[in-house]
Amino acid sequence: MSGYVLAIDQGTTSTRSIVFSDRYAVAGTGQREFTQHFPRSGWVEHEPDDLWTTTVDTMRLALADAGLSATDIAAIGITNQRETTLIWDRETGKPIHRALVWQDRRTADLCSRLSADGLEPLVTERTGLIIDPYFSGSKIAWLLDTVEGARERAEAGTLAFGTVDTWLIWNLTGGKRHVTDATNASRSMLYDINRNTWDDDLLRALNIPRALLPEVLDCADDFGTTDPSILGTGIPIRGVAGDQQAAMVGQACFSPGMIKSTYGTGCFALINTGTDRVASKNRLLTTIGYRLNGVTTYALEGAIFIAGAAVQWLRDELGVIERADQSGPLAAQADPEQAVYLVPAFTGLGAPHWDPHARGALFGLTRATGRCELARAALESVCYQTADLSQAMHDDWSHENERTVLRVDGGMVASDWTMQRLADLLGAPVDRPMVLETTAMGAAWLAGHKVGAWPDAEGFATGWRLERRFEPNLDEASRERGLAGWRDAVQRTLTR
Ligand code: G3P
Repeated sequence: MSGYVLAIDQGTTSTRSIVFSDRYAVAGTGQREFTQHFPRSGWVEHEPDDLWTTTVDTMRLALADAGLSATDIAAIGITNQRETTLIWDRETGKPIHRALVWQDRRTADLCSRLSADGLEPLVTERTGLIIDPYFSGSKIAWLLDTVEGARERAEAGTLAFGTVDTWLIWNLTGGKRHVTDATNASRSMLYDINRNTWDDDLLRALNIPRALLPEVLDCADDFGTTDPSILGTGIPIRGVAGDQQAAMVGQACFSPGMIKSTYGTGCFALINTGTDRVASKNRLLTTIGYRLNGVTTYALEGAIFIAGAAVQWLRDELGVIERADQSGPLAAQADPEQAVYLVPAFTGLGAPHWDPHARGALFGLTRATGRCELARAALESVCYQTADLSQAMHDDWSHENERTVLRVDGGMVASDWTMQRLADLLGAPVDRPMVLETTAMGAAWLAGHKVGAWPDAEGFATGWRLERRFEPNLDEASRERGLAGWRDAVQRTLTR
């Protein structure tokens, strides 16, 4: 059997497809951006057809780039932006509305009502989440309440809900399969992560008919076969995971205590907690890391909304830099005596604060503060936020004698200065892998392993290669001083 696996990575701003060889090398890639729709302040939508057509285009591009045809591909793995919500007609395959993107805040009032009704303890107990518009549940409720006739059609069983993985599989299989995986289900606010089933109490509380929901499979499972009309031959779809969970798999974080942190627009850090479902005391999310052969591995997740976006802000709004890669060298020249802090709460603060009303602030400015100090403050804000998450994770899941290692990926990790500063402020090593395509790689492994073309978890983990380890190199007093200044700045930014 060929060892080539095609990974589809359907993200928030672009769709990518990557062909991997059985040596985990990238053999071919395709990428397409698509339009973001912002119909009102706080609303974010995607055109479902854009998600589908960019997927087909990039699959073809990746195959052509690799010089391969569909018959060379052993299996397909899919990873996706999570929580983004679609509903379509089972007969026609037509969506009833544009996709509501995970960033969309239109259901904030509904979520406040659900919280005021006292639902949050039940939500957290069953799903590991908190009540927030971020997750799919309130978005489904909004669509059923708003689109004319949707509720009746949902109750009659003629509509289907899905996150992006489900939507793509539905289309790839010519409407034959209505399925998702456990990681995507765990982000719906409707899925009981203890019993691994949709939760009737929560469905009732949100008034969502069960007939709308997909079947939930393991991450490595039989998700159907692509319709031959798409690529010339049918390819088995055998792996699915939400993108942050796929990155955890791609980073081979298979042992409890291992943390991966992905630095894109925002930052998502996950710590593997093994088969223990750990309840957070620090407002982290408890979520399914992956489910293989019916066994669930749990994770604690911290989501930071602004990471790379702080560098974009320096570039696009302040004009402090022309290119993102100038931020590190500029920060390196900052005056070490100036304690300037940026709290990048541009869209509120995520974990562990969850304050949607907070807004960004700069502290410690003097007449001498210039571009270098602003660049350093922006990059350090990402490090400090990661330190907060890491602290919260260790408070929630403390295992003595374990030395934390953080495996990093995403665009920002190219900056050596930022990674060194991250290690310094964490007081722990930071590992940057050789292959930075960890999200797609995770999906590829799930599928490749399922069809027997790729090794098991242990074999895959030994194939993970370190490019560089950043060791902490800052005395404890300086680290403490920096963290204390940051915490003070955050306290002054919070609205509650
Ligand atoms: O939870 C949202 C996350 O899955 C989005 O990831 O990489 O598409 O921004 P990304």
